[in-house]
Amino acid sequence: NFPEKGKVGWKAPSNIALVKYWGKKANQIPANPSISFTLDVSATITQVSYTKKKVDSNGFSFDLLFEGKPKEDFKPKIQTFLERIEPYLPFLKKYHFVIETSNSFPHSSGIASSASGMSALALCFLSIESKIQDMELDFFKKKASFLARLGSGSACRSIEGDLVQWGHHQGLEMSSDLYGIKYPFVVDPIFKNYQDTILLVHKGQKQVGSTVGHNLMHDHPYAEKRFEQAHLNLDKLKPILEEGDLQGFMQLVESEALTLHAMMMTSMPYFILMMPDTLEIINKLWRFRKETNVPICFTLDAGANVHVLYPESVKEKAIQFIKDELVAHCENGHYICDQIGTGAKQL
Ligand code: PMV
Repeated sequence: NFPEKGKVGWKAPSNIALVKYWGKKANQIPANPSISFTLDVSATITQVSYTKKKVDSNGFSFDLLFEGKPKEDFKPKIQTFLERIEPYLPFLKKYHFVIETSNSFPHSSGIASSASGMSALALCFLSIESKIQDMELDFFKKKASFLARLGSGSACRSIEGDLVQWGHHQGLEMSSDLYGIKYPFVVDPIFKNYQDTILLVHKGQKQVGSTVGHNLMHDHPYAEKRFEQAHLNLDKLKPILEEGDLQGFMQLVESEALTLHAMMMTSMPYFILMMPDTLEIINKLWRFRKETNVPICFTLDAGANVHVLYPESVKEKAIQFIKDELVAHCENGHYICDQIGTGAKQL
């Protein structure tokens, strides 16, 4: 029942964690649970054409086009991904693939494209599998998230919207270390159209990648406390989201961002991914919030860029402040206006 050839395509979003994943066990199992907002604008579009090989071979066969051009340096990552997912998608060696991919956000903007990229690719390969054998939608989403996780941990939170939890946590029995699930609890409407203005402070390559960073949590003096704290913060977040407690939300989210970076600064070897402009932005944001009471807060990924989060109701004031005071700290004045999104879409 193997089709001779065909083409599938998906657009998958990036996501931004509120409670951060930092530290992992073997097979991309997270050391602690995390939760994220799915984004809307920041996304990867991937199309995979597949042609059945004339003679069976033992290896993977694929070409890769990034923004229309062959991209050799991405190929080892994809090769590793294929090796990891092949036990769950045994058809992969029967086909030759042409993978065409592009990002909606500027190339090397310092935004992690691995979450959107790996989830888009996982969805494409799983769509091909679903042509070979039928799959229930719920199973499809779980398996897509499971496969995406094997490419990049946080990618498993990029299949669905709008809030996704990954990692087993006592307060939520259906949660799993193996895949992300849509956050099932009540969320106040104030969080429905939450805005994320991403300030691109530094667009270059990071000095230390997340794989190295996660691994440094193994012998980290504060690791156990940090993992415990992530569980506690998930518990705290539940009533915050339910009641629309913006003060509680801002405090928890900012503390999570700074804790992530504190873990980096206290690893051995230690490293710093924030830049002077990151700190300038944070200080200006705190001053603005204190003076105006406008509920805007920040979070950080594993990099120097700042995600400014705020409810849609204060969008005008927030954007004005960002333009007046924060954009000057962005590389070439670049920023991306994003918001909470609804998850990946088939093309
Ligand atoms: O998915 P990875 O391995 O690139 O790790 C990402 C980790 C953070 O972005 C820093 C936090 C998170 O939960 O997304």
